[in-house]
Amino acid sequence: MAGFKVAIDGPAGSGKSSISKNIAHKLGMTHIDTGAMYRAVTLLAIENQIDMNDESQYHFLEDVHITYKDDHIYIGDRIVEKEIRSKAVTDHVSLVSSFPYVRKKLVEIQQKLGETNNIIMDGRDIGTVVLPDADLKIFLVADVRERAKRRQQDKQNQGYEVDIEKLIDEITRRDQLDSQRKISPLKKAEDAIVVDSTHMTLQQTVKKIIELIQSAKGVINE
Ligand code: CDP
Ligand code: CDP
Repeated sequence: MAGFKVAIDGPAGSGKSSISKNIAHKLGMTHIDTGAMYRAVTLLAIENQIDMNDESQYHFLEDVHITYKDDHIYIGDRIVEKEIRSKAVTDHVSLVSSFPYVRKKLVEIQQKLGETNNIIMDGRDIGTVVLPDADLKIFLVADVRERAKRRQQDKQNQGYEVDIEKLIDEITRRDQLDSQRKISPLKKAEDAIVVDSTHMTLQQTVKKIIELIQSAKGVINE
């Protein structure tokens, strides 16, 4: 079957990227991490030293090519995987992604990428705005403390110690900004299925979503 599209949305640290990447590899689908694209714009805003509160200063996006390909985020032909995970980027990304101009530019790129066959795209507004006609929409959630613990584990694996309470504050603040912004807020699409991974391992969540994909494909093929 050609062109099966899966949209995965949800709050920070619920597992969207890890799970989407895993499923994409297992099922031979293309994964697109849209959060990485908003992070890339934020990285450029920091590097270009623009006034980040001034929407008109983001017009540098007319001259740069941001894309996500083969599990990597690109600015032009530069891979910025590591740089986009910095604290400075994390602290400013919700501001940057609140500007209509920035969203318009990235949604255009994402919708173009979404024309590829068999894709799994994760973010905040995929089921509601980017791919409203997705064949399956998942809203992935988990308790905030559990999400912070997972982030802490990720950081420990990279050799950093981070305070759990600070992580809870950072995640809560970002979720609030993302859910309350005027344009394309983080929101469950009406036809999305909620998956709560609080008490599930990564592989259990992957298995559950693959089952949902198989049954959605079955319905479409009938
Ligand atoms: O992985 P993490 O949960 O830290 O966040 P992310 O998926 O990398 O997304 C970073 C930020 O980009 C989010 O907090 C949102 O502000 C923004 N974002 C968005 O507005 N719309 C999307 N489709 C994806 C991300
Ligand atoms: O993309 P998002 O911000 O939603 O989450 P992520 O960047 O994929 O980070 C989630 C972290 O939690 C990863 O280290 C996963 O291995 C881990 N994890 C998970 O995603 N799902 C579970 N059920 C358990 C752990």
